Amino acid sequence: MTTEPVRTWESAEAAEVWRRSAARRARTVAAATDKMFEAARLRPGMRVLDLAAGTGDQALLAAQIVGPAGSVLATDISPSMLAVAEESARDAGLSNIETLVADASRVELPDEHFDAAICRFGLMFLPDLQAALERVHRALKQGARFAALVWSTEDRNPYISLQIDVVRAMGRVPSPPPSIVRTVVLGGSGQLEHALHSAGFGLVEVTAVPTPRDFASVDEAFEAMRSSSPAQGELTRAMSDQEREHYAAELKRRLASYVESDGRCILPGEALLGSGTK
Ligand SMILES: C[S@@+](CC[C@H](N)C(=O)[O-])C[C@H]1O[C@@H](n2cnc3c(N)ncnc32)[C@H](O)[C@@H]1O
Repeated sequence: MTTEPVRTWESAEAAEVWRRSAARRARTVAAATDKMFEAARLRPGMRVLDLAAGTGDQALLAAQIVGPAGSVLATDISPSMLAVAEESARDAGLSNIETLVADASRVELPDEHFDAAICRFGLMFLPDLQAALERVHRALKQGARFAALVWSTEDRNPYISLQIDVVRAMGRVPSPPPSIVRTVVLGGSGQLEHALHSAGFGLVEVTAVPTPRDFASVDEAFEAMRSSSPAQGELTRAMSDQEREHYAAELKRRLASYVESDGRCILPGEALLGSGTK
């Protein structure tokens, strides 16, 4: 299995990119994140597991919901991402968040310990998804809910597909496949349901959640793609200057077809929210 996504996320640069893009990301996925909390039935006093927590955006929100009587364990493979999460928790005055650096497929968790578990846009990157989901299942109390967001298919997510399509058309998709290619691997019909069922979850539900992105212009959309994704570097790293110029021009040309009459560049998007009960 590829190691490229892990290398992408483990760098200090990735954590910095992710931290800087927090505000835009929060706007895009706010509604989906709220739905994930509802699907996990978060309540004050609960102990929550957050898998692939990254810089902890959703862990901090969950910590506010569960309050001082509850707690959140934010786990991720990347120490630099979790270091940002810890700093953000301190800045927000939240003392009910703990972090744990671990590969989700091997993370050691106490049995029947958590009242709920969440994972926001992390499952797609796990080399052994089944092992990770089984660990989550084991760590949950009987009747507890797990809720996870993943991206749906490329055709419903032009923010993702446009970048990949240009690189594909240029015959320059890096090997092993970069993170951005993995972002949609669980988007196909029935895949998330199947993974949750196979790990032992019952009452499995998967629903689509719109995640449109609204940019003031094509240039702003392009700049967001360039600056707010650790994957952008991966896509163009091996390109010559000339190829990079072609990539930028072609991506902007394709983005132009999403410009509305007021000049705004609006890209539709879709996530899948999967949930299940132990
Ligand atoms: C797209 S980010 C999502 C971060 C955060 N949940 C959010 O929504 O902002 C994906 C996260 O998955 C983490 N990740 C990748 N592979 C992992 C693995 N094998 N085990 C645990 N975390 C992993 C990365 O370090 C990164 O923080």
